[in-house]
Amino acid sequence: MLILGIETSCDETAVGVVADGRRLLANVVASQAALHARYGGVVPEVASRHHIEAMLPVVRAALAESGKRPADLDAIAVTAGPGLAGALLVGLNTAKALAYAWDRPLIAVNHLEGHVYANWLAAATPPLPAVALIVSGGHSEIVLVEEHGCYAYLGRTRDDAAGEAFDKAARVLGLGFPGGPAIERAARDAGPRPPRLPRAWLGASNDFSFSGLKTAVLNLARSEGAPAAAEIAAGFQAAVVDVLATKTLRAADAAGARSVLLSGGVAANGPLRAALSERSPVPVCAPPLPLCTDNGAMIAAAAFYRDGAAALDLDIRASWPIAPPR
Ligand code: KG4
Ligand code: ZN
Repeated sequence: MLILGIETSCDETAVGVVADGRRLLANVVASQAALHARYGGVVPEVASRHHIEAMLPVVRAALAESGKRPADLDAIAVTAGPGLAGALLVGLNTAKALAYAWDRPLIAVNHLEGHVYANWLAAATPPLPAVALIVSGGHSEIVLVEEHGCYAYLGRTRDDAAGEAFDKAARVLGLGFPGGPAIERAARDAGPRPPRLPRAWLGASNDFSFSGLKTAVLNLARSEGAPAAAEIAAGFQAAVVDVLATKTLRAADAAGARSVLLSGGVAANGPLRAALSERSPVPVCAPPLPLCTDNGAMIAAAAFYRDGAAALDLDIRASWPIAPPR
C-alpha cells in the first residue's frame, strides 16, 4: 500500500511517500522558516502564498525521490487540520486535484495524529496502549493511544504550547526563530548551574502552563546583572523538560501504557528525549529528527491506519481536536 502524504498546515510545504505505513520512500520538505524569521513568527498570509509556489515542485521532487510513478500510488493523504486555514487549503486542494486526476482515494488526516504516527517510521513498532506527548508550535497534549485511531486526552496546555514557549523565550533572549533549536544550541554553552526557573506543577493535574515561565525569562533577562542568554536558555529548557517528562511519565504509569511516544517539533529536543529515555520504565519512542517537525511522510503513515476515503467536497478543519473533549 503506497501512500503519498501532503502537509501544509503551517510553514512547511511537505510531501512524503510511505509504503505500508512504515517504510519511508521519500520525504521532501520546503521550509519557509527563513522567510518568517524576520517577523519572529509565522505570518499566515505569507505562508499560504508560498505554499502555492512550492506545492507542485515538492510533489514532483517527492515522487522522483521515491522512484515511483503516480500509477504506483494507492492513495493520496492530506492534512485537513488543525492549522492555518489558508495554508491547509493549498494542501487540501492539491490533494483533491491529484486524487481526481490520478483516480485514487483521498484520505483526510489530523495533523496531530500525523505527528504521533511519525513514530511508526522509526526502527521499532511502538507497543499499544501508548501515551503520546504531542509537543509542537501550536499544541502541548498528553494523549492515550489505546489502539490505532482511538485517543483520549490525559492532559493539555492551559495557555502556551511548549514550542510556542521556546519561540517566545528565544525572541526575548535575541536567539532567533524558530526558537526551539536556537535555545537548545545556546544552552550547550551554559555552565553546570544555570538559573533555576519556575515549574508550574498544577497539583495532580497533567495539564501544562508555560506562561509564568515565559514571564520569568523576560524578568530575568531584563533584571540588573542578568545572566548571559546561554544561562537563561539552559534554565528555561531544564524547566520545560522537567515538567513535560514528569507529567508524561506520571500519565503513562497511571494509564498502564506499554510505551511512551514523543511527537511534534519539540520532540527534536535532545535533553527532552534524554530525560524521557532515562526516567521511563517502559520503552520511549521518538521519531528520527527530520520526522519530528512537520513533514508529509507522517501524514502518509497515519493514513495507512485510516478506513474510508474522503469525498472531494471535503473541507479543512482549522480546529480539530485529536480526541473527544474530556
Ligand atoms: O511540529 P512543528 O514543526 O510545527 C507545528 O505543528 O507547530 O513544531 C514546530 C515547533 C516550533 O515551536 C519549534 O521551536 C519547535 O517545534 N522545535 C523545537 C526544536 N525543534 C523544533 N523545540 C525545542 N527543541 C528543538 N530542538
Ligand atoms: Zn506540527
